[in-house]
Amino acid sequence: MEQEFHAYETKVPCLWNIELIMENSLKGKHIILGITGSIAAYKAAYIIRALVKKGAEVQVVITPAGKEFITPLTLSTLSCHPVISEFFSNRDGTWNSHVDLGLWADAMLVAPATASTIGKMANGIADNMLVTTYLSCKAPVFVAPAMDLDMFAHPSTQQNLDRLRSFGNRIIEPAEGELASHLVGKGRMEEPDRIVAVLEDFFASRTRLEKKKIVITAGPTYEKIDPVRFIGNYSSGKMGFALAEACAEQGAEVTLIAGPVSLKVVHPNIRRIDVESAEEMYQAAIAVFPEADAGILCAAVADYRPEEQASEKIKRETKGEMTLRLVPNKDIAAALGAIKRDNQVLVGFALETNDETAHAEGKLKRKNLDFIVLNSLRDAGAGFRCDTNKITIIDKEGGTTAYPLKSKLGVAVDIVNKLATILK
Ligand code: C5P
Repeated sequence: MEQEFHAYETKVPCLWNIELIMENSLKGKHIILGITGSIAAYKAAYIIRALVKKGAEVQVVITPAGKEFITPLTLSTLSCHPVISEFFSNRDGTWNSHVDLGLWADAMLVAPATASTIGKMANGIADNMLVTTYLSCKAPVFVAPAMDLDMFAHPSTQQNLDRLRSFGNRIIEPAEGELASHLVGKGRMEEPDRIVAVLEDFFASRTRLEKKKIVITAGPTYEKIDPVRFIGNYSSGKMGFALAEACAEQGAEVTLIAGPVSLKVVHPNIRRIDVESAEEMYQAAIAVFPEADAGILCAAVADYRPEEQASEKIKRETKGEMTLRLVPNKDIAAALGAIKRDNQVLVGFALETNDETAHAEGKLKRKNLDFIVLNSLRDAGAGFRCDTNKITIIDKEGGTTAYPLKSKLGVAVDIVNKLATILK
């Protein structure tokens, strides 16, 4: 069987490319396609076909279990490259260098990705060529899970996927539908044309904000009462961090001014400045904004701070009844709006509970913003702490666009796409 497979290894020029009609972002890109042991492996053939048609060069790396589901002969014929599976070629003993392969790639796509491979990738279990290649790969990695609904929903799989996300890998969510088990639910690998579209969008958007400098404020601020107490709010910083990642993904140099949050930055093009109070956030923002092309003010800045901060912990026994006198903080958005040049773009947020549109439009004008992102606490899944958001963008020309409920990362991409059209 192995003999037969090697007999069909081919390096002839790929004739599919002749069909390439128009310029697209996948042209000339080197893609490693990792295939694992799932019934969806047959769909990998369609992925290769679409990628090659768009001018990409595809190198397939398949796990031993993957070969049970689709033949290397099919894959090497479609990709016009020998398929790699073992560390050594059985025929001539040549070593397949996972390191060279990892460095060759502009992107790695694992589709279909089984629970087992996802677990190995998340934990560095490099016992096959696919996972060793993944560990050597410096290029962006896309993972399209395919498995039974209960396996997908299991906390172990979800934790492993979260781990991959924390490494900066992009998960192409599986769709809902009929599964190989005949059960119906979430776990079906996304359709090949959608997967290819994700890669195409990725390469198309990667340079959209190249050389642009963007300042983002994120998270809450803490206003000290005494050394152990503060006035704060429920902001998690998730939306602002997602915006920072989305801007960096599109090529921008990002300065992220973060209030106290427990989040990590992934992209290397994000410079993070940690602050605690509104005053510290103001000082950092006012210092960097003049050099920036755009500012996105996503932080939930405290409007007030205690007029005085006690230097020692306030004691109930000595203080008795107490009144906190609050004084207003500076409005960072309004301050940046006042010094904004014509070639700078400023984006604000409005989290409202009532009369949403009127309040958002008022802020847009008062703070001299180019557009404002409105979300309402009345919408389920929007606002603080959750991983999703539902927004409406209102621009200074009066244009309004309402978006459906999406992950905060998806929402961030919509906001950054809007910003990119103005910055262009
Ligand atoms: O007035 P409000 O706080 O609702 O306005 C929200 C917008 O203004 C957000 O973009 C927020 O980041 C920004 N803001 C600010 N500085 C403040 C208060 C709000 O930058 N002190």
